[in-house]
This record gives sequence, C-alpha cells and structure tokens, in this order.
Amino acid sequence: MKKVVLAYSGGLDTSCAIKWLKARGYRVICFIADLGQGEDFKAIEKRALAGGAEKVYIKDLQDEFLKDFILPALKAGAVYEGKYLLATALGRPLIAKYLVDIAHKEKAQAVAHGCTGKGNDQVRLEVTIGILDPDLEIIAPVRIWEFKSREEEIEYAISCKIPIDVTKKKPYSIDRNLWGISIEAGILENLQQEPPEDAYLITKDPKLAPNSPKYIEVYFEKGVPKKINGKTYSLKSLIGLLNKIGGQCGVGRTDLVENRLVGIKSREIYEAPAATILHIAHKELENLVLDRELAHFKEGIALKYSEMIYYGLWYSALKEALDGFVASTQKQVTGAIKLKLFKGSAIPVARKSPYGLYKKELSTYGKEDKFNQKLAEGFIRIWGMPYQK
Ligand code: ARG
Repeated sequence: MKKVVLAYSGGLDTSCAIKWLKARGYRVICFIADLGQGEDFKAIEKRALAGGAEKVYIKDLQDEFLKDFILPALKAGAVYEGKYLLATALGRPLIAKYLVDIAHKEKAQAVAHGCTGKGNDQVRLEVTIGILDPDLEIIAPVRIWEFKSREEEIEYAISCKIPIDVTKKKPYSIDRNLWGISIEAGILENLQQEPPEDAYLITKDPKLAPNSPKYIEVYFEKGVPKKINGKTYSLKSLIGLLNKIGGQCGVGRTDLVENRLVGIKSREIYEAPAATILHIAHKELENLVLDRELAHFKEGIALKYSEMIYYGLWYSALKEALDGFVASTQKQVTGAIKLKLFKGSAIPVARKSPYGLYKKELSTYGKEDKFNQKLAEGFIRIWGMPYQK
C-alpha cells in the first residue's frame, strides 16, 4: 500500500483529506508544523488519529523559522508590494522541507497538502517539494475532489464520522505564525467595505489605543534585533514582546489588494506588529550606517527578495546570491533605534550607532560647521554640466 505524508492543520479541508486519501488506497501520515500559531497541537493530533491517520508528527520549527527564514527576510527588508511582510509566504518553504524530510523517513511515495487551486501557497509548497525531491508524487485533494462547497465537505465529514469542529463557522480564512497573521475571505471580499473590528486578532483598534505614546528602543547587532529598552531577549521572546506592545498601540495592521502568482488580485488584511516595528527600525538604522549608493541599491534587492519569497522561490540560486549581498551589507548594522508607538503608528524618533555616518560638524547650521561651502559651487557646475543645453 502506498504511503502519503499530509501537511495537516486540523481544519475541515485537511481532516476530510485524510479520509479521501485513504479511500484512494493510501496510508496517511500527518505532519503538523508549529510555526508559532499557538494552537492546541495535542487536540489536533487527536483529531488526526481519530480521523484515520496512521501516525502524526508534530514538529516545533519555530527556532528554525526565526533563524533561517524570518531573520534573512528582515535583513533583506523584504516587503511585498510595499505592505505585506510575508509571514505566510515565509513559512511555506519550511513546511515543504519537513514534508519531504518525513516522506523520506517514512519511505512514503507521496506528499499532500490542503491548499486550494487559487492561492499562492500551493505553488510555494509544490515548487519547494519539486526542488528538494522531484520524484515525490504531490497530491492536492482540495484541487481535485468532488465537493463543491463547504457544506458538501461538512456532509462528507459527518457521513464518514470525521471529527471536525463545525460549531464555530469561521467568517474568515486565517493563517497565523510568529511573524504575523493573514486574514481573508468573507466580508473582506467586498473591496468597498472597511474591515470589521472582529477580523483583527492581536491589534487594538488604533482609536482605542492609549492616548499617550509608548517609546521603545530596539537594539540591533549586525542586522539582528537583540535588545528592547536595553534588555536582551531571545529572538522569539523579543518578537512576542513587540507583538504585545505594538498590538496594544494598534501598530501593524495593513489592508491591501495584492497580485497573486496565479494571476488574480485578492484582498487580504494583515496583522504584524513586531514585524512592522522591526522592519521600520532596521531600515532606519540602515539609513544611518549605509552609504547612499549601497542603501539605494539595496532597495532594489529588497524588492527582488520579496518577490522570491512571495513566488515560492526560496530555494533558488538567485535567492541564495541575494543572501550573499545582504549579508555583506549587515556588517555595520549595529545600533539602537528609538520608536514612538502611537495609535497605529511607529515612528523612529532617535538613533545611535558606532558605525553611524552622520557627521554633525558637516550637517550643522551652527557655528561648529566644518563643511566648506565654497567647494559647492564647483561641484554643482560639474554635476549639472551634462544637462545644460
Ligand atoms: N496572501 C498571503 C500570501 O499569499 C496569505 C495567504 C494565506 N491567507 C490566509 N488567510 N489563509 O502569502
């Protein structure tokens, strides 16, 4: 009998997928990836076993996610279409990596996932699986099965005695991990509708956030955030803390219509307080320590890097080469940025770095000015010369 490793979330789709795969002659092994989504994994494991899985792997991948995915994206300044900090997209290559790993361990011929045929995640998972082991068969039940609606799926689940949780009919599709939350579907499909407050899970409505600002100082070492307000934290607890403080101040919400890989535009809202604060602070520090040409060139790299993540091309030669560039830019990215968090905004207000390129004696308008203004005349003439008719 053939074996399949299924990326299992505990939701309706993947729960039905267990039975569906079994009905097609597969032995089903479930894999649950812990990327910090904060769910009851024991309960999910029980559901998988009760639903017919032969074995369940639960893997805590949070440290690897932080070190090998989130940090590189932060250092690169990767933001898709100017707004999306890529939490969901960053998790997919890691999940795919372990699907392949477990398939090898289990000597399974196939892997499966519960993504729809309209989204980006199917692409990210399958491209990565194909890169890591092109011989594995990939099954995407949701893309091919006969159910036409959620109701039909629920009927199937009930008739097959699949344990599912249909009591709370979720109004949104939500994907969550350490780096942020992605929320779509339901009322959000109406572009003219402001997202209702109940769509947000970890950020306060900015108008209800505290009336006085909160100041925080983030200290980076070679591009890696290490301290908050002078206190050292592990990356995981630092992100947890910033999610909490930022969320209370209403920081980190975005609402955008994005271009999916499969050619459609979709509306999605995101919550990522820590990621937002860290990106803003990191960029501010780079502005202080990188020279102009390097800083400007890096913006182009950031755009490309964000596309590589969004497009599922994490394990590609180009992405690896970009990592090389980014690494060489981070050597001097050490210092502290103080931000003012206030009713949804996070604004840098003070900065310091041993590698700062700001020279007060050159920029000052005060009497300690050392800038030789006479030289400006010649500079301007030569600079503008090619443009004179
Ligand atoms: N649009 C985001 C992406 O492609 C998130 C997709 C998943 N969203 C969700 N609510 N399940 O990366």
